[in-house]
Amino acid sequence: MNLAIFASGNGSNFSAIIKAIKKGRIKAGSVLLVCDKPDARVIRRAQKAKVGVILVRREDFAGRADFEAAIIRRLKSYKIDLIALAGFMRMLSPDFVRKYCNRIINIHPSLLPAFKGSHAIKDALDAAAHFTGVTVHFVDEEMDHGPVILQREVRIAKKDTLVSLEKRIHSVEHKLYPQAIRLFSEGKIKIKGRKVEISNP
Ligand code: GRF
Repeated sequence: MNLAIFASGNGSNFSAIIKAIKKGRIKAGSVLLVCDKPDARVIRRAQKAKVGVILVRREDFAGRADFEAAIIRRLKSYKIDLIALAGFMRMLSPDFVRKYCNRIINIHPSLLPAFKGSHAIKDALDAAAHFTGVTVHFVDEEMDHGPVILQREVRIAKKDTLVSLEKRIHSVEHKLYPQAIRLFSEGKIKIKGRKVEISNP
């Protein structure tokens, strides 16, 4: 399986995935990072792990279509089987999603459909929810939406702060995302319409 990880920021999920590949838990051929921010920490993580980086800045293109066309052009020779969004802070167009139909997944720090959007952890705290969680899902044309692959619940304690809750959610993410990618690479995730079936997890 050839894997492209799309990320814009810190990259702790990127590192968790790379670690699982290096330990042989995920069998991957080509692995590369696609990033839209030249100063993102994830680029330094990729360089340290000797993972190739494709840097495509949105500002260098007149519109989203040209930006995405440049990504597609640069991905072409890698024959990518799976795109894993890991904190990629841009919505992909319906055309892009259709091109990689059922081959783009995302991780989101809530139990979707609850708390969509980029402040999901804070929103769960502010709502005084008793639990939140982590979701790995196929990407469709809507934000934080699409068939769910794996979900894990994370309890919210009364004494939780944003920092403490974020820490627990991230540690769940760092297990769940590599697990989902491993299942995909082993052909154990089947998608029929909008229904996901997982065999022998
Ligand atoms: C994660 O919380 C992920 O769920 C969300 O973006 C965050 C990325 O964190 N989509 P990191 O850059 O992997 O540390």
